[in-house]
Amino acid sequence: MENEVTRALKMRRSIRSYSDKTVDDEVLKEILECGMYAPSGMGKQSGVMVVVKDEEVIRELSKMNAEVMNSDKDPFYGAKLLVVVLGDTRIRTYEDDGALIMGNLMNAAYSLGVGSCWINRAKEMFKTPRGKEYLNKWGLDDTYEGIAVCILGYANEEPTPKDRKDNYVIYD
Ligand SMILES: Cc1cc2nc3c(=O)[nH]c(=O)nc-3n(C[C@H](O)[C@H](O)[C@H](O)COP(=O)(O)O)c2cc1C
Repeated sequence: MENEVTRALKMRRSIRSYSDKTVDDEVLKEILECGMYAPSGMGKQSGVMVVVKDEEVIRELSKMNAEVMNSDKDPFYGAKLLVVVLGDTRIRTYEDDGALIMGNLMNAAYSLGVGSCWINRAKEMFKTPRGKEYLNKWGLDDTYEGIAVCILGYANEEPTPKDRKDNYVIYD
């Protein structure tokens, strides 16, 4: 019963090596729209997506993310485009809502030929004084919490999926 959509859902992989080719705004807009249409608890749309293209900002966010794990490597794998997903903590389902936004972004990106990867540690990044300055710059206060960073770009690799574990599905 496979179709184009289910095939894409199974074929998407996390991409950790990117070419220099930039993602067009039209393509990005479609990816973001798919994020906007993710389900959210009681339809409250608790998430926000911040698009980051500025090289300096990406470099600083990368450093902030790396610092959380005491690393000096680039956790964004050289990606030139980020979508930072944040959630409004006043809404009970903000973490679930944010994860679904991330899923939609990554799957939509794949379906449009764009590679992506979920990058963790956004929560810690935006709790720092510098992180809070970024929230402020983006017109958000510290009721917003980082969910994840979606890195985007054209893939320089073709990873294969791990085998799925046995007993993934249990039938009553
Ligand atoms: C909650 C979560 C956190 C993740 N954090 C990172 C991360 O910080 N860095 C990274 O390279 N990949 C990260 N990933 C990607 C996973 O490693 C990846 O989804 C997993 O290995 C399965 O590979 P696939 O996405 O290609 O199917 C994360 C994925 C999830 C869902």
